[in-house]
Amino acid sequence: MIKAIKQTLAMILAIAGLTVLSLPVSAEKSPEVGQLPALGWNSWNTFGCNVSEVMIREMADAMVESGMQEAGYEYINIDDCWHGERDTNGNISASKEHFPSGIKALADYVHSKGLKLGIYSDAGNTTCAGRPGSRGHEYQDAKTYADWGVDYVKYDWCDTENINPEGAYTTMRDALHATGRPMLFSICEWGDHQPWLWATDVGHSWRISGDIYPCWDCSYSWGSWSSWGVLKILDMRKDLNLRQYAGSGKWNDMDMMEVGNGMTAAQDRAHFSLWAMLNSPLIAGNDLRNMSRQTRDILTNQEIIALNQDPAGVQAMRYIDSGNLNVFVKPLANNEWAFLFLNRSDKVLTLNHDWQSNVVKDDLSNRTIDFNQTEFSYRGLWQTLTGDTNKPLQVNIPAHDVVVLRLSPKS
Ligand code: GLA
Repeated sequence: MIKAIKQTLAMILAIAGLTVLSLPVSAEKSPEVGQLPALGWNSWNTFGCNVSEVMIREMADAMVESGMQEAGYEYINIDDCWHGERDTNGNISASKEHFPSGIKALADYVHSKGLKLGIYSDAGNTTCAGRPGSRGHEYQDAKTYADWGVDYVKYDWCDTENINPEGAYTTMRDALHATGRPMLFSICEWGDHQPWLWATDVGHSWRISGDIYPCWDCSYSWGSWSSWGVLKILDMRKDLNLRQYAGSGKWNDMDMMEVGNGMTAAQDRAHFSLWAMLNSPLIAGNDLRNMSRQTRDILTNQEIIALNQDPAGVQAMRYIDSGNLNVFVKPLANNEWAFLFLNRSDKVLTLNHDWQSNVVKDDLSNRTIDFNQTEFSYRGLWQTLTGDTNKPLQVNIPAHDVVVLRLSPKS
């Protein structure tokens, strides 16, 4: 009897074992990273193709010394043009001239500072600057990056005629997964093929626009394509309600920041606050080694960063859209809220916001605030400003500037 039971048990276990063995090992983007929007720095906006190991090391030093690391920034990302040639086996290496010690040594250095290293490739045969892309080398490149100790891969979309974007990005995701090393996967496809519809399980973020340009509301033509100012990116996909696709580990990427790259302090403040409220990755794009105090103070505003990194992970909604005034509202954890009042115009805007006649209802997070029912106190995150929602908010907002408030329920 006991023998029969043992035999049956053995059979059940064998069948269960076979079933487990025959289940496909499913690839996924790494669940260990990117759960909150990435905070870091990238070389492209300031340096373009002029990258080197010396500069990248100095940038890691500056991220620590400037207080940015303490404020939460962790990734140091090398964009395009780090590449050398592929060898006869197809293995990619870094430019011997600009990265003579190699990427592994650089990653070790960045890690020794408590930071992480990001690298760049492209789904096509060549990158946007004509360097070797990863097409046909996805698994080989992913393994190389993992061996080097890379923590973040930005994957671009140049030279990809006739390639299916979902397939190409999924292949690279699977290749990264196969290495066993957690790497954040940043999709840079510019929103051309609606990545928000297919990339939520593929990457940790996806670009929603073409490249940024350090201006308020301009576009800059490069011939066959254009770069976009802050308001242009803000408005680009406004009718698509992209916030519905974002959440933990899946973020709309509004491109690397231009804070400190020539706009006014007000414009930089607004740009930074908007990117934070919309849960975009906050990737600085200026030269951290010699930034002004003003730039540093903007990039390290802990209270603005906290909105971006809020554990509820809900992207802000554009609640009021009336010409020069835009109001963005973001539900935060613990029944708090953030309000951003944006003055788009080049004149001072006199704001008179009556909280009680503006009920906020967010279908996405399923949260409502009726200020007639619940009273909130607030404080400004840039200016010294406090008050409560019993009285209208009256404040002048300078041209191209923002007022950002954090609201807490009064107990
Ligand atoms: C594209 C990307 C940029 C940058 C460059 C590099 O334009 O959108 O962010 O990576 O390529 O060549």
